[in-house]
Amino acid sequence: MAISWYTPMPNTVACVLAAGKGTRMKSRMPKVLHGFGGRTLVGHVLHALQQTEVDQIQVVIGHGAEAVEASLSSQGVGIIYQHEQKGTGHAVQQVAPALQDFTGTLLVVNGDMPLITPQTIQQLLDRHHSEGAKASLVTARLADPTGYGRVFLKPDQSIERIVEHRDCTPNERLHPLVNAGIYCFDWQMLWPILKDLSNNNDQGEYYLTDVIAQLTPVFALEIRDEREILGVNNRLQLAEVAQIYHQRILQHWMLEGVTILDPRSTTIEDTVQLESDVVIEPQTHLRGSTVVRSGASLGPGSLIVDSEIGAESVVRYSVIERSRTGSQCAIGPYSHIRDGAVIGDNCRIGNFVEIKKSTLGNYTNSAHLSYLGDATLGERVNIGAGTITANYDGFRKHPTIIGKGTKTGSNSVLIAPITLGEDVNVGAGSVVTKDVPAGALVVARAKQVVKENWKPKHKTE
Ligand code: UD1
Ligand code: MG
Repeated sequence: MAISWYTPMPNTVACVLAAGKGTRMKSRMPKVLHGFGGRTLVGHVLHALQQTEVDQIQVVIGHGAEAVEASLSSQGVGIIYQHEQKGTGHAVQQVAPALQDFTGTLLVVNGDMPLITPQTIQQLLDRHHSEGAKASLVTARLADPTGYGRVFLKPDQSIERIVEHRDCTPNERLHPLVNAGIYCFDWQMLWPILKDLSNNNDQGEYYLTDVIAQLTPVFALEIRDEREILGVNNRLQLAEVAQIYHQRILQHWMLEGVTILDPRSTTIEDTVQLESDVVIEPQTHLRGSTVVRSGASLGPGSLIVDSEIGAESVVRYSVIERSRTGSQCAIGPYSHIRDGAVIGDNCRIGNFVEIKKSTLGNYTNSAHLSYLGDATLGERVNIGAGTITANYDGFRKHPTIIGKGTKTGSNSVLIAPITLGEDVNVGAGSVVTKDVPAGALVVARAKQVVKENWKPKHKTE
């Protein structure tokens, strides 16, 4: 690998503001760590930014810095501390040491607007450059603009100034055009103004929005779908935004040929892959790297995380995590399949069956009340109701191997490590402690004793 001594100057640096406390969330956790859809609020913003042409991302953190920084550790972003949270303008001031000699565009994005799309960010960058503006920002017209900064335009449609909601006169509060919280600046033009910002406002904060009145021209990109710019400041807005997010994903899959019977009670993370003719019944949630093959039917009431569900399999009222099922399986109701379980084709896993880190061959069934852990089952095995693999001796986990065609009787306990050969029959109620050869019947329980006409002594005269 060639080692380069020359690191080109970035043209576009993104700065994400994520240092605020989020007082209105009334939470012990910093606002930007709240989330939905498998990402935090700031994680959603970063995910959008990572799909644009920005060269570098810096995240300004402060409130709850340790937790926020930990959540960003795998994101490949720079971290900048704002030790005291004195407003969005003050937050951007903290980026200056990282931008010495920088002559490009600074993109600033509030960390609390998780529905922003890469397309909008890229469009803002492109228009900022093609319009030759000193600054550009996204605006939207809201039916209820409460809480947002209001954007006032000049006759030529460039921006004159932004007034924060709490600093607006009653008349100004009727103004519907708002500031979304995403901006482009020519850094060399911004810095002289930013460094001298005043905090002469209702909150005594340094507002980034105050730089706008001192820059000309400022280009406004008015967004059509105003839902994209919704900011999350309280839990009501968090729920609204989460719902819009999930509906976006569900609409995508419905148009791709997936049936979703009750979109209001279904959530699918954007990392999930679905094939056509999948049917999703109410109260079903698909997360992480889950893949669902064609014709599978999921739900009602199921949670599937980082798992693959085979074609035409049916999963009812069950939880499947980090596992794989083959095609044409019937899972549930109330099955729990987890941590590396691999289920073959045409298997039936029934009520109150837990399967952990086990492999099941094709046509193998475990229909009721069982635990299979660290087990390898061949094809056409039948696990009787209440069979348990006792895999843990208090210190270590041990394997169980069950050969093809074997049948375990109800309530049998297989003490691992243990191997049952092919076509073994285990008598009901057995506690099997030693390996069993192929073709054998094993019965390991006390013999039945019957004493006819027997009465306890104290009842005899
Ligand atoms: C801000 C804008 C407002 C806009 C709205 C859009 C300002 C002054 N106002 O208001 O015009 O309509 O967003 O949602 O910018 N933050 C810091 N450090 C701080 C303060 C805030 O990093 O000292 C971060 C917060 O973590 C948050 C973002 O900046 O992610 C915005 O802060 P917030 O307090 O939510 O501003 P708004 O009142 O929503
Ligand atoms: Mg906000």
